[in-house]
Amino acid sequence: QAYNEKESLYIALNFAKDFFVQNLQTEEGRAIGLSYFKERGFSQSIIEKFDLGYTLDGWDHLLKAAKAAGHSEEILLKAGLILQKEGDQTRVYDRFRGRVTFTIHNLGGKPIGFGARILTQDKKQPKYINSPETDVYHKSDVLYGMFQAKKSIREKDNCYLVEGYTDVVSLHLSGIENVVASSGTSLTENQIKLIKRFTDNVTVLFDGDSAGIKASLRGIDMLLEGGLNVKAVVFPDGDDPDSYSRKVGSQAFTDYLEKNAQDFIAFKIGLHADEASNDPIKRADLIKQVVSSLSKIADPIIRSVYVRQSASLLEIEEEIIQVELNKIILKVQ
Ligand code: CTP
Ligand code: MN
Ligand code: MN
Ligand code: MN
Ligand code: MN
Repeated sequence: QAYNEKESLYIALNFAKDFFVQNLQTEEGRAIGLSYFKERGFSQSIIEKFDLGYTLDGWDHLLKAAKAAGHSEEILLKAGLILQKEGDQTRVYDRFRGRVTFTIHNLGGKPIGFGARILTQDKKQPKYINSPETDVYHKSDVLYGMFQAKKSIREKDNCYLVEGYTDVVSLHLSGIENVVASSGTSLTENQIKLIKRFTDNVTVLFDGDSAGIKASLRGIDMLLEGGLNVKAVVFPDGDDPDSYSRKVGSQAFTDYLEKNAQDFIAFKIGLHADEASNDPIKRADLIKQVVSSLSKIADPIIRSVYVRQSASLLEIEEEIIQVELNKIILKVQ
């Protein structure tokens, strides 16, 4: 073979991307996929910018087309595009069927995987089916949207971090391009290093549900450990950045971000302030949690600024926080 295997994977994934994008213009694609995107307010140019596509309903549309174009089953399997039938490994079929697709690009813009969203309310099927880990798609190294965001992240010197594919696309529609998604999983060290290549500042935009917020709290501590400055914005209950921006419009959305971006420490304290105000045990617990976040900040000057701010927000003496903090910091060093 003329290409090495990784190169063959890239070529097959690019073929699949083109195929899915073209499917959107078929009769079925227009009726189902394109109308779904239009309903969500996605414009033609945003569809092109993100290589959004559609996978036809059926077991082997991609398989047949890819084989006809010279891609081997072995490569399609290794690219995560097809699956082997359980109990009969000689039978293979398309992984993504009857779904709209979000192309996942690497930093250079090559397709390395897909997220595929279901179009019905069928609760028995997962909302998203994603590409598996492959030789060219290391999930822990990738943030969705980074290829489209990197230039803007550098220019704005800030990176918005959201949960979902659709949040990234929606923010672009609102004119905000410095945004990437964790794709619903907890952040990894390599993803944080990736952000740090472009900026030291992250604003986390949480889905307004408690699961979203709890998941992101761990992420915030990791961002702090990575030496990033972290802000957070919470959306009204039940909304995520995508639904909220569609509800209020781009201008109000941008204003909301600016008005509600909170320093992480104020955010964390605010989350628990109500329950902690009258309950000494919860209050002690909150102080410990805040101290634990503070201990993640490596820079002593930045840390001392936050210690002061925390003391004021928690209405306790700075020394109490400092003593607790020293217990952790001195243990680590
Ligand atoms: N996700 C996933 N598999 C699922 C559910 C979620 O991989 N079954 C990932 C996707 O990357 C998704 C992200 O987690 O974009 C956030 O999940 P969620 O908030 O449920 O989805 P949304 O992106 O908000 O999608 P939609 O607005 O279409 O419901
Ligand atoms: Mn890796
Ligand atoms: Mn969610
Ligand atoms: Mn959503
Ligand atoms: Mn969401």
